[in-house]
Amino acid sequence: MPDLALFGGNPIRTKPFPSWPKLTDAIREQLLYTLENEQWGVESNTIDKFNASFAAFHDAKHCISIHSGTSALWVALKAAGVKAGDEVILPAYTFIATATAILMANAVPVFVDIDLKTGNMDPLDIESKITDKTKVILPVHIAGSPVDLNSILAIAEKQNIALIEDAAQAHGAIYDGKKVGAIGLGGIFSFQSSKNMSSGEGGAIVSNNEEFADACFSYHNCGRVRNGKWYEHHRLGSNLRMSALNAAMLIPQIESLESEMAIRDKNRKSLDSFLDGIQGLTPIEFSKGATRSANHIYLCRYSEDLFSGIPRETFFKAMQAEGVYTYKGYNPLYREPLFITNHDEYPWLKGQDYKSLYLENTETFCEKEVVWLKQNHLLGDEEDIQDIKNAFEKVTKEMKTNQKPFLEFTL
Ligand SMILES: Cc1ncc(COP(=O)(O)O)c(C=O)c1O
Repeated sequence: MPDLALFGGNPIRTKPFPSWPKLTDAIREQLLYTLENEQWGVESNTIDKFNASFAAFHDAKHCISIHSGTSALWVALKAAGVKAGDEVILPAYTFIATATAILMANAVPVFVDIDLKTGNMDPLDIESKITDKTKVILPVHIAGSPVDLNSILAIAEKQNIALIEDAAQAHGAIYDGKKVGAIGLGGIFSFQSSKNMSSGEGGAIVSNNEEFADACFSYHNCGRVRNGKWYEHHRLGSNLRMSALNAAMLIPQIESLESEMAIRDKNRKSLDSFLDGIQGLTPIEFSKGATRSANHIYLCRYSEDLFSGIPRETFFKAMQAEGVYTYKGYNPLYREPLFITNHDEYPWLKGQDYKSLYLENTETFCEKEVVWLKQNHLLGDEEDIQDIKNAFEKVTKEMKTNQKPFLEFTL
C-alpha cells in the first residue's frame, strides 16, 4: 500500500489552516473606542453606525441589528405577518435555525427540495407546496451562493406571498447585480463565530420596506415603536437587541470583507478548476442569476459510482487522515429528531407527517454526494490550497487504482 495516511503513511498536511475569527488592530481600536466613549447598549452611536453602514453595504435602506441570526429570522417572520398556524416554505437543506425560527413563530415549516447541482432551493418545487395558509417563502443562500431569487420572487409576487432571504451565510454576495438580503421584503444575516463576518454571536435584518423595518424594530425591542415611549409596548416582542460591543467588532469587518471575499473567490475558482480534472468530484454550480458567491464554505459533490462503490464516508476518513477535514454537513432537516413532533408541545403541527417526507435531491445530496471543507480553508494561501489539491489527488488516485483496502475499510 502506498503512503496513504489512512493506512499508516505520512499525511500531506499537519499544519492548521488559517485561524478564524481574526482579531485585527481595527477591531481592537473600535472596541476600545466604544468601551471608553459610548453607551454599551441602547442609545450607542456605535450601533447606529453599524446599522447605517451594513444597510448601505447590502444595498438596503434599513438595517436592524439583532443578537443572533436565529432571532433575526423569528423577528423577520413576525414582521412579515406570520401568525400561528400559517405556513412558511423553506429548503430542506439548511441549518436548523431556518426551520426552528418558523416553529418559534408558531408556524408550520413546509420543506421543498433542492437543486442537486447548486445545493440551493429548487424553484420548480415551490408552487405545488403553496396553500392558502402560505405566508412567506424563505430561501437560503447555501454556503453563501445566491439562490435563483428572480424565479422565486416571480412565484411569490404572483401569489402575494412575502419573500424573506436567509442570507446568514452570504455576507457580500451578489444576485443579478445587487447585494443579497433586501431583494424581497427583507433578509437576515448571522455574525456567529464561524461566519465570514463575526462578533462571536450576532445577527441583522436588512430591508428597503419601511413598514417591515419598523415592525422588525418593534419585535426585536420588547414591542416598542420608533419614537414611542420607553414604557409603551405594542407587540409581543422581546429584547433581542445587539450589544454595542458586537456592533463595534463588526464595523471594521464591513471594510475588510471585500479583500477576504477576493481571496475566497480566487481559492474557490482554483479548487473548482482543479476538480474539473478529477472524475468523481464535481464543483457546485452557481444558481441561475447569481453574480457572486460569498464562498462561505467550499462544497463539491462525490460520485460513489465513479469510485467503484467506495462510500463517501471512507473518502472523508482518507482526506481527514491527510490533514484536510472533509465532512457531510447537514442532514435533511425533516429527519432531525425535532420533527418527530410531540403534538402536546406543538399542537399547530397536528397532521404534519415529517417522518414520511422524502425529498429525493436533498436525500442524495446529504447522504451520498456533498463534500464540505471547513469555512477557514477558503481563506488559505497558495500553499494551503495546494495541500488541499494534493490531498484530493492523492486520495482519489489511490481509490481509482487500488480499491480493495478502501472497500474493506470499516468506519
Ligand atoms: C442558514 C443559516 N440560517 C440561520 C443561522 C442562524 O444564525 P445564528 O447562529 O446567528 O443564530 C445560521 C447560522 O448559524 C445559518 O447558517
